[in-house]
Amino acid sequence: MATEEHKRLADIVKGTHALLRAECHQYGAEIAWKRHLARNDVLQEYAASMQKLAVKCWADNNSDLRSGTYCRMEWIKAQCKEYFLNGGREKYNKRERDINAKMTLSSVGPSVEGRTRENNPSGTANGLRDSSERRISVLDVGSCYNPLSIDDAFDVTAIDLTPTVEEVYRCDFLNVAIGGEKILSRDTREIRQLPADFYDSVVFSLLLEYLPCPEQRYACCGNAYDVLKSGGILIVASPDSKHVGANAKLMRSWRYALSRMGFMRIKYEKLRHIHCLVFRKCVRKDVAIRWSKLQRFSEADRRYACETKIFIPQDFQATRSKEEREKLEYEETDLASAFSELPFDNETST
Ligand SMILES: C[S@@+](CC[C@H](N)C(=O)[O-])C[C@H]1O[C@@H](n2cnc3c(N)ncnc32)[C@H](O)[C@@H]1O
Repeated sequence: MATEEHKRLADIVKGTHALLRAECHQYGAEIAWKRHLARNDVLQEYAASMQKLAVKCWADNNSDLRSGTYCRMEWIKAQCKEYFLNGGREKYNKRERDINAKMTLSSVGPSVEGRTRENNPSGTANGLRDSSERRISVLDVGSCYNPLSIDDAFDVTAIDLTPTVEEVYRCDFLNVAIGGEKILSRDTREIRQLPADFYDSVVFSLLLEYLPCPEQRYACCGNAYDVLKSGGILIVASPDSKHVGANAKLMRSWRYALSRMGFMRIKYEKLRHIHCLVFRKCVRKDVAIRWSKLQRFSEADRRYACETKIFIPQDFQATRSKEEREKLEYEETDLASAFSELPFDNETST
């Protein structure tokens, strides 16, 4: 059961998301985003609330692995280890090779293996065969309070618009430069440029729904693609308390857009309050794109077949005025349904 404090914090988080969405409708995405970044007090309050919610309100019972009700961070860590340390990567290297073989039955092209070695001067498959000797490099985008840092298996670069702890770098992932190497600000607290083709994994945990428009979410996925190594993985956790089928069209739409970008979806799990997904940056882009080419969308679903947008349910809801939002938020705080936007009521179930 949510406490008053829990609800108050949740309202701050939800209110910030709602204001950003409303301003995006009013001014357009670019101006709304600039206005948002200029509101330092709002960002600080949001970050502090988010940290308290995650660390104090949600974290108490998140280790019930048997029932699958452990929290998103445990899920993310488990997927990374499965993929990089327990044979997942090799399994999908092979799957890519098999698909590639089907696609190039009659043509002579570079093999997946060949491409992999080309991208990796060390000569190890995807640079990770020696993963027992080194840690998995993770870029945690929208990290807020650096929840992944506590595991030694990971070398985490944590970034956020408003860090709540010192180890998190300030960085707007939407607008950051991506190039040869990491470039820091003079005070070393901000990342100005991220290295391309560098990270084993990029994590978006409750990030995409923060962004008010589908094009911005798509741009973030594009940046994730650019900073990932070939064969690296993008892990996404996205809140949704509805049953698995309720937003199946949106999940298919994500898969479609990301497949066009060069990602193969390799894992999808719907936990009680959250969608959890893993996308692999394919060594050969055309292997990833193949899935999207096989899709057929009905007339009614054609709007979901979009190559440059990542939709969330809120994109299809009418925008509300400030008064309507306040009224709704007041009324909804007593209802479990108020927490459908984020897993506010009982994170233990995720
Ligand atoms: C809902 S919180 C999620 C915090 C944490 N990842 C978790 O799962 O508990 C979303 C975070 O994303 C950050 N964020 C939103 N847009 C961002 C961007 N463009 N670049 C970096 N961080 C961003 C916000 O500041 C916020 O801290």
